[in-house]
Amino acid sequence: MDVTQIKSGIYYVGVNDRTKHRFEGLWPLPQGVSYNSYLVVDEKVALIDTVDAAYTDIFLDSVRRRLGDRPIDYLVVNHMEPDHSASLRAVLGLYPDMTVVGNRQTVKMLEGYFGNLRTLEVADGQTLSLGRETLAFYLTPMIHWPETMVTLAAEDKVLFTGDIFGTFGALDGGITDSQLDFERYRDEMRRYYSNIVGKYGSAVQRSFPKIEALDFDTVCPAHGPVWQSRIGSVVEMYSDMSQYKAERGVVIAYGSMYGNNEQAAELLARKLAGLGVKQIRLHNLSVSHVSYVLSDIFRFDSLVAGAPTYNGTLFPPVKELLDEVRMRQILHRRFGVFGSYSWAGCAVKQMCAFAEQMGWEMVSEPVEFAHAHTHEKTGSGLQTLAERLAR
Ligand code: FEO
Repeated sequence: MDVTQIKSGIYYVGVNDRTKHRFEGLWPLPQGVSYNSYLVVDEKVALIDTVDAAYTDIFLDSVRRRLGDRPIDYLVVNHMEPDHSASLRAVLGLYPDMTVVGNRQTVKMLEGYFGNLRTLEVADGQTLSLGRETLAFYLTPMIHWPETMVTLAAEDKVLFTGDIFGTFGALDGGITDSQLDFERYRDEMRRYYSNIVGKYGSAVQRSFPKIEALDFDTVCPAHGPVWQSRIGSVVEMYSDMSQYKAERGVVIAYGSMYGNNEQAAELLARKLAGLGVKQIRLHNLSVSHVSYVLSDIFRFDSLVAGAPTYNGTLFPPVKELLDEVRMRQILHRRFGVFGSYSWAGCAVKQMCAFAEQMGWEMVSEPVEFAHAHTHEKTGSGLQTLAERLAR
């Protein structure tokens, strides 16, 4: 069985990256990532997106092995971010008569990244015949850049979606969801969404009706598995995340220089557990990468931030987390605060101001203490916080 054949005439020619440490120079990749590209082979041949520059040679080898002497007629650029477009010039070197297909925004970016190319500009809903197969293009701006679009291979009902429905995690052998262990990808899908696309929830919501109205039974994203058997649950998960829907659970994200705020975090977690809360995630923000914390904040409905005052302001790793949350405009979270100081309190004030900016509900009064942490100083305040969160 050739697992790279998605349907008759539609082939996977993407690559795995198990070397890069940080996606976009920011987000850790402990399980790697795939850059997916697809060939639609008909009377004309279309290539859908390319791959990261580090894998151009391997990618071109796959394309050549699949096509033999046949040329590529069209390169469809669903998304210009260089993890998908960087091999474009090398593809053009091999297939100089190829036309690059994109929308008005794509064409502008193509010129900026690659100079003057032969392009075909398409509008929302426009089609392009390859012979038996018709490609139809639908604009999905800001998922995740302004030029992003999806492409439907209409006769075969295959939808190529760029970053939409993508996940971190390289493809360990299989390509489609029925060839892989889905559980391995569920958390990485949430982390991919919350890190990369999370800021654009309203854009996802705007484009979703258009996507859902299309007739498809296979989803080919630009990262991670091809979805066939799990399209329903993946679409639902995506829709929920874009609306910031969350399940019951408490994320306790704290900074601690000498263990005092860490002790407050531990005490709060014990109290929550004592009240029957099972979904509790503690993150020491000097240790946990912010990408994992964001993923948990997308998943759960409550966040408690704890921090010492540092140089007259909020402890930097906690400030970084709150800035990332603010940037993603995450809605509807219940919020609690604890923090400490040694001579002038500032951390708690700043975390309360954050809640006000976000329009989040503070479930109880902030718990602030000076100097060393003791159960006597924080016990009663943390108990109230735990009881409100456990409701
Ligand atoms: Fe996978 Fe927005 O690039």
